[in-house]
Amino acid sequence: LPRNIYRDRPNSSGLEFGHRAQLRQLCEGMAGADTLVAAKPLIPSVKVHGGSVDVRAPAEPGRVVGTISQARVADVEAAMKAARKGFERWSRMPADERGAVLGTAGDRLEAERDRFMALLSLEAGKTLDDGIAEVREAVDFCRYYGHQAELLFSEPRLMPGPTGEENRYGWRGRGVFACISPWNFPLAIFLGQVTAALAAGNAVIAKPAEQTPLVAHEAIKLLHACGVPEDVLIYLPGDGEIGAALVSHPHIDGVAFTGSTATARAINRTLAAKDGPIVPLVAETGGLNAMIVDATALPEQVTDDVIMSAFRSAGQRCSALRILFLQEDVADRVLEMIEGATRELHLGLPQNPDTDVGPIIDEGQRSMLAAHIEDMKRTQTVRFSGNPPDEGTFFAPHIVELDKASALREEVFGPVLHVVRWAAGTLDRVLDDIDASGYGLTLGVHTRIESRVAKVIDRLDTGNVYVNRNTIGAVVGTQPFGGSGLSGTGFKAGGPHYLYRYAQEQVVSVNT
Ligand code: NAD
Ligand code: ALA
Repeated sequence: LPRNIYRDRPNSSGLEFGHRAQLRQLCEGMAGADTLVAAKPLIPSVKVHGGSVDVRAPAEPGRVVGTISQARVADVEAAMKAARKGFERWSRMPADERGAVLGTAGDRLEAERDRFMALLSLEAGKTLDDGIAEVREAVDFCRYYGHQAELLFSEPRLMPGPTGEENRYGWRGRGVFACISPWNFPLAIFLGQVTAALAAGNAVIAKPAEQTPLVAHEAIKLLHACGVPEDVLIYLPGDGEIGAALVSHPHIDGVAFTGSTATARAINRTLAAKDGPIVPLVAETGGLNAMIVDATALPEQVTDDVIMSAFRSAGQRCSALRILFLQEDVADRVLEMIEGATRELHLGLPQNPDTDVGPIIDEGQRSMLAAHIEDMKRTQTVRFSGNPPDEGTFFAPHIVELDKASALREEVFGPVLHVVRWAAGTLDRVLDDIDASGYGLTLGVHTRIESRVAKVIDRLDTGNVYVNRNTIGAVVGTQPFGGSGLSGTGFKAGGPHYLYRYAQEQVVSVNT
């Protein structure tokens, strides 16, 4: 089997999803794991300045997971200087050797699965199911991009030479890439960006989200240990100010960004205002993701898929379901089932195997969700509000019925499901409403009418469409992931064209 189809080896991490006995065992192992990390910027020959601050578990504010010394804006210059040197060596390394280093990193990450799951659970509040899925995705990225580097960039391709010249068409790294990532996939997305940029022959300055610096630090150290030189991969922890300083540096050759649409726009403006070469931006951003359910859909399956799509990971996925369009004829029955299933969800410590919904990443995000519900109460119908635990930054699942889709225009990043009813014969209006949001990340369709599926796909250019299933958990190399419009620039992460965005073409024509 090709190495990149990790899904073909579902047991390689030793666990099946939802296998409670195995999860419990793993959980017990984690309790004794050494998860304390003291993270600091990793910039060759630069000493850490300033003190460090505690990183606390969102589910247990009294629990210190590790410490972080943030980088300063002045460190950007030193990082760039080192990375430019690193690039000279790394870009000359044959692509298959770079690929092999990334493959080794995938193997090592798989071997260290428990430690990374423990960190994901403590620092980012990931439930065990989510932790398993995230480690798998991160391993997939290492293997897939490693394999793609070999496939795409190994040898220059000979082009036709009708005049007798030899035309060699090849690819090379662009230079130093800034990789800026969000907190909601602090391992998989962080490593996805970094390994893509490395695979294509770039040096990388990686800035993780300020909420999740520890798991990123450990991932960088793992890559260093597997053979990525320290000046080729630099760890620059900090907040948006450090990110902004990094993208405005005159010698950045490319930016990979995953996060909110607003931040992507800010970065785009910074890059556009710079003098010098035009710098490419790979941006993967938010979504106002919809699911359309008609009267032919199976209510039990819809219920399972809605719960999974809206509430798994506490709704903190870019792919999560935000607006459910339910055909009126079945709406009452299906909503009753969804409400019943939501009531059954267990909120609690993410490292507890019985937990379905873990914490919100921080107090800022939690109060944003609370304010949204207060706002909705004024004009819409809040049908269901769950009860959160007293401790930690929890926010219970909510179900809000909207009188019209336009009552929600922005992504609400958490466990809030919005529902809109639609009448038979008005599907075109539903499609117009979805289109009008301007986002295009994920879309669910539940119907037994094939022509209806074809119509929806034809009308909407949403990046990832899921038919009669949930809308989350795209698999690397199998379901390349990414959106259109306000949701991102493409190419799709984990897809066959992604690495091209990180490289540049060169043609050498030799008069033989
Ligand atoms: P965010 O935009 O607030 O932050 C993302 C990163 O950008 C962080 O590292 C942050 O420090 C940095 N940053 C902030 N301001 C910056 C600036 N001016 N210049 C440079 N960097 C800056 O997003 P978030 O809250 O961390 O993540 C949640 C968002 O990410 C949601 O909108 C979600 O939909 C999106 N997301 C998208 C995908 C995807 O694949 N499309 C995947 C995961 C998350
Ligand atoms: N790739 C992640 C998903 O599909 C964001 O859920």
